[in-house]
Amino acid sequence: MAQPSMQSAYPEVHSEVRKFISGRSRRMLIDGKWVEAASGKTFTTYDPATEEPLAEVPAGDKEDVDRAVRAARKALESGAWPRTTPSERGRMLWKLADLIEAHGEEFAQLETLDNGKPVAIARVADIPLVVDQFRYYAGWATKVEGETIPVSIPGQRMLCYTRREPVGVVGQIIPWNFPLLMAAWKLGVALACGNTVVLKPAEQTPLSALRLGELITEVGIPPGVVNIVTGLGETAGAAIASHPDIDKVAFTGSTEVGHLIMQAAGKSNLKRVSLELGGKSPNIIFADADLDQAAVGAANAIYFNHGQCCCAGSRLFVEQNVYDKLVPRLVEYSEKIKLGPGMDPSTDMGPLVSSEQYQRVTSFLKAGKNEGAKVVTGGDRPKQLDKGYFVAPTVFTDVKPDMKILREEIFGPVVCAIPFKDPNEVLAAGNDTEYGLAAAVWTKDIQKAHRLAEGLKAGTVWINCYNMFDAAAPFGGYKQSGFGREMGKAALELYTQIKTVWVNLGEA
Ligand code: NAI
Ligand code: MG
Repeated sequence: MAQPSMQSAYPEVHSEVRKFISGRSRRMLIDGKWVEAASGKTFTTYDPATEEPLAEVPAGDKEDVDRAVRAARKALESGAWPRTTPSERGRMLWKLADLIEAHGEEFAQLETLDNGKPVAIARVADIPLVVDQFRYYAGWATKVEGETIPVSIPGQRMLCYTRREPVGVVGQIIPWNFPLLMAAWKLGVALACGNTVVLKPAEQTPLSALRLGELITEVGIPPGVVNIVTGLGETAGAAIASHPDIDKVAFTGSTEVGHLIMQAAGKSNLKRVSLELGGKSPNIIFADADLDQAAVGAANAIYFNHGQCCCAGSRLFVEQNVYDKLVPRLVEYSEKIKLGPGMDPSTDMGPLVSSEQYQRVTSFLKAGKNEGAKVVTGGDRPKQLDKGYFVAPTVFTDVKPDMKILREEIFGPVVCAIPFKDPNEVLAAGNDTEYGLAAAVWTKDIQKAHRLAEGLKAGTVWINCYNMFDAAAPFGGYKQSGFGREMGKAALELYTQIKTVWVNLGEA
């Protein structure tokens, strides 16, 4: 059994977090019970700041997914859940939000230990967004309405109305960059709409979802409504994507796996699919922007969550007459970022999530240098840290349009700065990508701002800001960044299906 490394490394860790990690995390939630994997196998999750084992969790696979789907089907069609009123569902979600808030510090620490992000940021960003997500959809539970349709059948009086019914059993496969928040984005709306769920957290960061499962049972959400199966993508994830009795799969992760999910849905039962995938988002700064604000914005756009954001502003376009002014400011900002273990409250940026991610990002750094791009800051692991998956904030210049670092998603704190001449040129360059998740424009000229917002092929455009998120605002991709919108009213479309009912009221 792995010995939790945090015992010695972090004396300040919350006692509940210690207890959870050293014992309860060895079980997953199926049909309201805390169980081991059918195979009895476990896998290790690591602390990316120390590279030491953190906890053992069940290595669920196909057999466990089957059990979870049977429980979710049973809960959907009989038992307490279909008899739960929308108001009761709303109250459960609200209560869940309150409980998460009450245990906020524990969740923040779990996220930090498992993912590496600074605890100071988890406290003010991840956890409040999670709480708000459940509160927002608690409100929607009583507002999932159908319509009455004015139909025109000659000689007949007809009442025609629609019902919005749950899609059914939904599989949700989530990534490791915002472990608890991604669970919240997917669970809140699914439950508000009356679905039942099999959730698979990422193998790098399974802990906060398991802890969330404990609170889900505590608020009285009936057994089988939410099942949490921890396991690897290739086994547990693939079993969800190809399961014949799952009605919908929602996935957030790499574009590569997004392709596999759609194929599996097509080959199995044509389950509905929604995908939130990668990005290579253009962040466009015009000379007439507030350059102080824009320089900080450029840094936050790429460095937030260590660049491990699907919407990271990884292509920074700067109008050429201010390029030589703005890039040094970004560099100066980059060099002030304090790297360290996330548990240190003074840390600005923690390690990348895993050894695999560290290898990926550093191989991009090598590729950039080999292809002739210039490193103006960073470009390697920071010298002062000899342990942990740390990469220094990195700015590349002299980047050519066909370079790998400009075309592919890096998912690390690495930005390419590119000068441009005019709005048309930058619009074409910004859209020259297979992705379309987000974009930003910095300018004081409202005409230019809105014209670009219209022209950019991206699911979100930020003007004079970046990384703005709210439970009420839809989020999702154009092109190969995926389809379907999470959050806001739009997400109800993913988790309900419309039934049209005709009632013969007799002759006209
Ligand atoms: P991934 O796409 O492999 O993993 C995301 C989730 O999918 C995890 O829960 C994983 O277990 C599951 N998964 C993996 N293979 C699967 C399969 N064959 N069938 C079903 N589920 C499967 O992402 P990974 O390998 O962790 O990261 C690779 C790259 O993906 C990153 O460098 C980044 O570019 C991108 N990524 C994008 C994210 C986003 O927010 N859009 C989040 C995580 C990664
Ligand atoms: Mg993968």
